[in-house]
Amino acid sequence: MLALLLFFFADHAPPPVQPIAYSHKLHAGTLGLACKTCHTNPDPGELMGFPATGVCMTCHQTVKKDSPQIQKLAAFHEHKQPVPWKRVYQIPSFVYFSHRTHLESGTACETCHGPVKERDALWREKILSMGNCMECHQKTHALNDCDTCHEPR
Ligand code: HEC
Ligand code: HEC
Ligand code: HEC
Ligand code: HEC
Ligand code: HEC
Repeated sequence: MLALLLFFFADHAPPPVQPIAYSHKLHAGTLGLACKTCHTNPDPGELMGFPATGVCMTCHQTVKKDSPQIQKLAAFHEHKQPVPWKRVYQIPSFVYFSHRTHLESGTACETCHGPVKERDALWREKILSMGNCMECHQKTHALNDCDTCHEPR
């Protein structure tokens, strides 16, 4: 029952309210910024990471600096605080997952995260449950034993 409820809410939950109204549709869509401008996949490659405020400020030092949203951004930057973005996709820490492994196998961001470039706000529109991971592993003939993704007992 609980699992069913969680499944339902994961699928239909509205986007979390973010501390700054950042839009992928504007930045990655209209302005055409590449994903890797902001999500760099640093070594060892597990995470994509979030951009430092300095990346935003290369433009927003001047662009729209009178906007209240940009003033919020500038305040985080000035106090050397990361923006406390609310997480959209997050899996439990007991699961092994590496972005780099998947990117090197040719899987596109959109396969797991949907058409990000068309979204003002992101929500968990793709469900990355154990079932979904295993379904793709089966299709692509990737390893699919329990200890591929979990610590052996
Ligand atoms: C100008 C910087 C910038 C660019 C370019 C950018 N992003 Fe982002 N991305 C962010 C910021 C900031 C957040 C946190 C706010 C949010 O979730 O919208 C984020 C969040 C995300 C998340 C949600 C992460 C989570 O679990 O919380 C995904 C997925 C994502 N971006 C994918 C992409 C993809 C795919 C592209 C390229 C099509 C892209 N991003 C381009 C800045 C950027
Ligand atoms: C390559 C330059 C560039 C980068 C890098 C960039 N932006 Fe922007 N941003 C823009 C432009 C251009 C606009 C649209 C300005 C307009 O509407 O005239 C904009 C608009 C915005 C707005 C809407 C402001 C408003 O009140 O209308 C927000 C919020 C914003 N950006 C946040 C961010 C954040 C957060 C980052 C870093 C994750 C970022 N931007 C990185 C160029 C950039
Ligand atoms: C095979 C599926 C898959 C692909 C492909 C994928 N992601 Fe992810 N992404 C995930 C999962 C799962 C998480 C949650 C990871 C966690 O909680 O440790 C995540 C988390 C993120 C995050 C949050 C920060 C982080 O690193 O955990 C960002 C940003 C992100 N992805 C961006 C991208 C971008 C950009 C691409 C393409 C270059 C991409 N992802 C490709 C599955 C994927
Ligand atoms: C769209 C297809 C797809 C999805 C969805 C996907 N994977 Fe994968 N995964 C692959 C492929 C293909 C490989 C094999 C890459 C290789 O062998 O080079 C792989 C490899 C892996 C590996 C490394 C296995 C090894 O060879 O040691 C782990 C761990 C993993 N995936 C975990 C996950 C988890 C956890 C999820 C869900 C959150 C997930 N994957 C979702 C396609 C996918
Ligand atoms: C391809 C990756 C992958 C494989 C293979 C895999 N799991 Fe998982 N497993 C996950 C992910 C991702 C989660 C987290 C699901 C979530 O939070 O929605 C998870 C969660 C779990 C949980 C926690 C309970 C739950 O449902 O949240 C258990 C127990 C578990 N897996 C057991 C197994 C067993 C036993 C096997 C072998 C038959 C297995 N897993 C194979 C990815 C995998």
